[in-house]
Formats: sequence, C-alpha cells, structure tokens
Amino acid sequence: TFPKQVRLVEVGPRDGLQNEPEPIRTETKLELIDRLGAAGLAYIEAASFVSPKWVPQMADHREVMTGLSRRKGVTYAALTPNLKGLEAALECGVEEVAVFGAASEAFSQKNINCSVAESLARFEPVLERARGANVRVRGYVSCVLGCPYEGEIAPAKVAEVAKALYDMGCYEVSLGDTIGVGTPLKAKRMVEAVSRDIPMDKLAAHFHDTYGQALANLYAVLEEGISVVDSSVAGLGGCPYAKGASGNVASEDVVYLLNGLGIETGIDLDALAATGSWITQAIGRPNRSKVGVALAAK
Ligand code: HMG
Ligand code: MG
Repeated sequence: TFPKQVRLVEVGPRDGLQNEPEPIRTETKLELIDRLGAAGLAYIEAASFVSPKWVPQMADHREVMTGLSRRKGVTYAALTPNLKGLEAALECGVEEVAVFGAASEAFSQKNINCSVAESLARFEPVLERARGANVRVRGYVSCVLGCPYEGEIAPAKVAEVAKALYDMGCYEVSLGDTIGVGTPLKAKRMVEAVSRDIPMDKLAAHFHDTYGQALANLYAVLEEGISVVDSSVAGLGGCPYAKGASGNVASEDVVYLLNGLGIETGIDLDALAATGSWITQAIGRPNRSKVGVALAAK
C-alpha cells in the first residue's frame, strides 16, 4: 500500500550540478537553494565536501554551506566521504551529512578510491564524530540496480551494504540506481531484500532516469511502502564516475505523480517548476522534467 505522506530529498544543488563541466557561480547555487526552500522542499542536499580534484564543481562547498540563507524547517545537508570532509562541513555549520558507499566493488574504487569494506571502515569514525557533534548521518548505497562496470548487482549485496550503514548509525539509507538501468520488478525485489533487515520507513529511493524508468520504478517501490524519495529539480544531474548516467528523476515529475496519487508532499508545484525553468536557463541545460516543460508552456 502507498504511504500517506512522502518526504522529498532535493539533491539538485549537489547531484544535479556536480557533473557540470563549466564552473557555476556560487551565487547561482545559492539562489537555487533558496528558491527550492521557498517552493517547500524541506530537505536540500546543498553541497559536497569531496576533493576538488575529483569533483571540481563542488569546490565552493564552504562558500555554499556558509552562504545559504537558512529557512525555518528546512534541512541543508552535504556529502562527506571521510573525516576531512566532515570536519570541513562541521566548521560550516552543516546540520546533516551523508556518507556514500556502493554495492559494487568496481564502482567504489572509481568513485571513492577504495574497496567497499575500506569505505565502511572509513565511515565508522565519520559517524562517531558526527554523533559527537549531534549531526545526523544519512547513508547512500550506489549501483543498487546495476553497475556501469560490473553489470548486474545481486539484491543480497545491496542488502548487506545497506545493513552495514544502518547498523553503523545511519538514520536512513538511500538506495541509488546510479545509472538508471532499473525496471519496476527489479526495483521491487531489491527493496524487498533490503527491507528484510531495515524498516521500510528508514529507506529512501534515489533513482536516476537514464533509461526513462525512474517514475515507473518509484511507483513500484512506493507501493512497497517507501516514503522518502530523492529527486532533482528539472531532472538535472549525473555522477562523474558513472559514464553516461543522466540526471535524477525530476522533482516536478515526482510531485505531480504524488499529487495524482493523493499523497501529501507540502510542495508548491508551480514554484518548483518555475525554479526548474530558471535554473536550466541559468546554466544552459535542457529541462528534463516533462511536467516542468508542460507547465512552462501553459
Ligand atoms: P583519495 O585520493 O583516495 O583521498 O580520494 P586521500 O585521502 O588519499 O587524499 C588525496 C587528496 O585529496 C589530498 O590532497 C587530500 O587532502 C584531499 P592533496 O594532499 O593531494 O592535495 N582530500 C580532500 N579534499 C577535500 N575534501 C575531502 C578530501 N578528502 C581528501 N573530503 C576521496 C578519496 C573520497 C576524497 C575522493 O575519491 C573523492 O573526493 N571522491 C568523490 C567522488 C564523488 O563526489 N562522487 C560523486 C558523489 S557520489 C554520487 O553521485 C552517487 C549518489 O548520488 C547516489 C547514487 O546516485 O547512486 C550519492
Ligand atoms: Mg545520484
């Protein structure tokens, strides 16, 4: 059965922009974050405290995290792959962070330069330090429905890594179809496998739309009881270490779907769509939200 309410995690400013080759002005990022907050997004992944050599677009993480105007009721989060990233994020007053692992060894190496086991060992002190600072930690598992290097990924492997993150203290585990290759039945089976170890309300769906299946996959896992959805305004994005991966499912499309299902989100769809039109024009990208394009043409 469908959940009554769904919480959206807006990853546009981070996942949506991280792969842009041309530097985007910090002011543009700050305006994006502010507009998203104004549209009712209560959780915004604003930056990524990763190595600027690895992801140059996120190099202004300090300026973004300290420059944003905080709205009441909105959580501004950041990715922190290691203690160095966490310390920097804490200095900037971050409220919440995320560690990111993978269900694929090859992807883990390419993305964070270590094995899955090494990554988990590296996250332990991050969680411990964050706990000491009263900062909640979200956990990501990438490649849950397929890997650009290894192909098929067993649901049991996804469940194992997700459980390790949950047991370590991640309050929520976001399941990433990094390269958007999943289909609904596969997504359902994967969520079933993971939810044997982790309560459904501690799981999130993070689906990229490379093959145009993200909304269908979401519908399938919402039916399973997933109630947290990661999405990106205008469907922006892609992972620099997953060749050919396109953006996340568009936030506008998710809100339209949820509205139609009678599921509450608290988001102003018109304001969100206007934000999608604005940011795509500002950075010279096509708007990958069908709903956004349709509303703009009205
Ligand atoms: P490494 O090279 O193994 O790290 O990278 P290291 O500890 O050996 O350090 C090497 C250099 O990086 C040193 O600098 C460090 O100071 C620096 P140098 O001495 O050479 O000048 N460094 C840092 N600088 C800034 N912030 C830090 C940091 N850590 C080390 N936190 C590392 C390891 C994890 C840092 C690197 O591989 C990295 O930054 N990777 C980031 C990859 C990334 O951001 N990928 C995209 C996000 S994940 C994603 O998109 C998937 C997701 O959306 C879910 C899904 O869709 O599936 C979440
Ligand atoms: Mg992603």
